[in-house]
Amino acid sequence: MQLFLDTTDVGVLKDLAATGLVDGVTTNPTLIAKSGRPMLEVIAEICDLVEGPVSAEVAATDVAGMLAEGEKLAAIASNVVVKVPLTRDGLIAVQEFAVQGIQTNVTLCFSAAQALLAAKAGASYISPFVGRLDDHGADGMELISEIRAIYDNFDFDTEILAASIRTPAHVTAAALAGSDCATIPPDVFAALFKHPLTEKGLSQFLADWAKTGQSIL
Ligand code: E4P
Repeated sequence: MQLFLDTTDVGVLKDLAATGLVDGVTTNPTLIAKSGRPMLEVIAEICDLVEGPVSAEVAATDVAGMLAEGEKLAAIASNVVVKVPLTRDGLIAVQEFAVQGIQTNVTLCFSAAQALLAAKAGASYISPFVGRLDDHGADGMELISEIRAIYDNFDFDTEILAASIRTPAHVTAAALAGSDCATIPPDVFAALFKHPLTEKGLSQFLADWAKTGQSIL
């Protein structure tokens, strides 16, 4: 399973990428606004730091605008994935991007029917928003399972990218449901390393080791 960071914070990205466990990055207009920096500059910097896919989202809502913006974003680096909203115009643009060999991530997916259309359009990734569905009183992880079943039934190549992840439990559940990838906020990514029993066990081992007075080196 590929693990992406959902961030535009380059400092945080550098820190977590140093673990060797970050396979890619996703961004969105809200995260760009939060960075307070020019979008093209941030995306270029992220692409220099990470070899894997880096999603950069268009702001236009019409086909011509999305194509023009997507082509500009894709020209930043070879690992840019153009992120497009799951709308009628968005899926028309996705088909054109596929013809041009530009990778796409279809975002704001909240139903299996939407995911089916995105796969038929030739999307490289589909981003079901698990946390926002949970917030809305639905079961976000059920959506991941439904999309997995549909994509397997028809051998679609579109990769499922579980998005709007809120907790480490979401990551585990997405992996169990067969999601190809998950995009994770930095605080949740950092929490994946931790368990209270790991910390407690390590303290005990270190205390006992100190009592031996030994040194391995
Ligand atoms: C995904 O591509 C989005 O950037 C992100 O996961 C949205 O998460 P949120 O619901 O926490 O804003």
